[in-house]
Amino acid sequence: MATILDRDIERVLVSQEEIDRITTRIAAELDRDYKDSRRFLLLCILKGSVVFMGDLMKKVTIPVEIDFMKVSSYSNGTESSGRINILLDLNRRDLSECDILIVEDIIDSGRTLSYLVEYLRLNGARSVKTCTLLDKPDRRVVDFVPDYRGLVIPDEFVVGYGLDYAEQYRALPYIGILKPEVYEKRV
Ligand code: PRP
Repeated sequence: MATILDRDIERVLVSQEEIDRITTRIAAELDRDYKDSRRFLLLCILKGSVVFMGDLMKKVTIPVEIDFMKVSSYSNGTESSGRINILLDLNRRDLSECDILIVEDIIDSGRTLSYLVEYLRLNGARSVKTCTLLDKPDRRVVDFVPDYRGLVIPDEFVVGYGLDYAEQYRALPYIGILKPEVYEKRV
């Protein structure tokens, strides 16, 4: 535990070594499953997925394209309404040629990925599948099962490896559980 941010971490939930094993495993699965694809597109959902996406795309050995979307949940102030707002869209006309893999850092309620899969299918993508590094099934509001999954985790406040609290901690190279006093003192 070296940096100033490390001090806010109660314990490491997923180490750098474990993340490395997970990304290697998923990349091998993608190499196998998409080897016959003519246009394999990794779609990173900003911002949290950017670190996972970067590692994953380096380990995939088949030809791959990348693109980005940014979405947010509409909020009524205290609770998510469940509606999804597209902040950055895919502006391309070749979706009918693309086998899209949506890359996420975490699934909570399942609303974001449910919405995006439907949205991309309606927009004519050749195929749409999903990949998440972390999955919190205990938090599910809508039924959703990803096609590729790194790890199922308990309902803890996790940060690091792209995941933030108040826009901080994304650059930590591991996934840690945040000390409760860090977020409790801000409420
Ligand atoms: C997180 C995560 C997913 C979404 C999952 O993004 O990256 O996109 O929440 O939640 P859901 O399953 O309940 O829909 P967040 O809104 O925190 O934005 P960020 O990636 O920019 O931090």
